[in-house]
Amino acid sequence: MGKSKVLVVGGTGYMGRRIVNASLAQGHPTYVLQRPEIGLDIDKLQMLLAFKKQGAHLVEGSFSDFQSLVDAVKLVDVVICTMSGVHFRSHNILLQLKLVEAIKQAGNIKRFFPSEFGLDPARMGHALEPGRVTFDEKMVVRKAIQDAKIPFTYVCGAGFAGYFAGNLSQMGTLIPPREKVLIYGDGNSKVTIVDEDDLATYTIKTIDDPRTLNKTLYFRPPENVLTQKQLVEMWENLIGKKLEHIIISQQDFLASMKGMDYAGQVGVGHFYHIFYEGALTNFEIGKEGEEASKLYPEVKYIRMNEYLKIYA
Ligand SMILES: NC(=O)c1ccc[n+]([C@@H]2O[C@H](COP(=O)([O-])OP(=O)(O)OC[C@H]3O[C@@H](n4cnc5c(N)ncnc54)[C@H](OP(=O)(O)O)[C@@H]3O)[C@@H](O)[C@H]2O)c1
Repeated sequence: MGKSKVLVVGGTGYMGRRIVNASLAQGHPTYVLQRPEIGLDIDKLQMLLAFKKQGAHLVEGSFSDFQSLVDAVKLVDVVICTMSGVHFRSHNILLQLKLVEAIKQAGNIKRFFPSEFGLDPARMGHALEPGRVTFDEKMVVRKAIQDAKIPFTYVCGAGFAGYFAGNLSQMGTLIPPREKVLIYGDGNSKVTIVDEDDLATYTIKTIDDPRTLNKTLYFRPPENVLTQKQLVEMWENLIGKKLEHIIISQQDFLASMKGMDYAGQVGVGHFYHIFYEGALTNFEIGKEGEEASKLYPEVKYIRMNEYLKIYA
């Protein structure tokens, strides 16, 4: 049996481009949705053309043209959607309902990966407003998938290194501080942080793996399950300097939401769950899940002390 054909929807996005690259690298015939709506966005077009140069097939299709989605889906075995979901960029998680409907109508898809790649929404029923919208919407998409009996894999359970390691998990910046660092509570919650390219590699590995069918793929690569304090120490060792640690209590952190814009409030909620509750790691992976580094020990995932070097 050959490798499954993959369609990536959202392929020029932050996570999507990595999924496309990993799919090509692992030898899957790779199709990327090319939306007419990108119009004059030359960066997106150039990226699509670069994918084509590497062997990807570009498929025209639009969320405003249902039949074009059905036709695109019919070309492949597996669909991976990386639709936007970060509020300070854009968030269109529910748009995926159209894609689910197209997959249902096409009837040929062996596996669908909706846009997840974060905290497991099934474990976030208690999440704070307004950030819970991310989890609620992802659960609406999951319900549609399961109601339509579409085979799936949900990929969750890691913070992207670019958002959580590069800035030592400081909000509102993507680069690490050199003087002062905010420490969330005791700074000892365990947080899984994985390089986005590694996440993509693991995701593509699951495609033809029966062990991950109708399951959730979580991430606990042992050396990348870190506390914020460990992460800060790695940076301090790299730059040869101790930062001033400013401890922020749970109450003060939550109070900081007041007066923030919507995207900021969503961010505070998510950070609260990750750093004060330990929501990425505070559960056992049960029968409904698998752990990526156990399934694929051959992946040499990037360690965060290595990752941080580029920022020094
Ligand atoms: N764990 C973490 O730390 C973490 C961090 C960030 C994101 N995430 C998750 O990762 C997933 C992807 O996020 P991202 O930041 O990679 O997304 P993104 O780059 O902001 O957007 C991804 C793609 O969504 C598509 N899109 C956006 N608006 C659209 C519209 N109106 N109609 C059709 N397509 C549209 C575009 O596809 P085209 O390529 O077709 O233009 C875009 O490239 C989300 O589920 C998010 O929650 C997790």
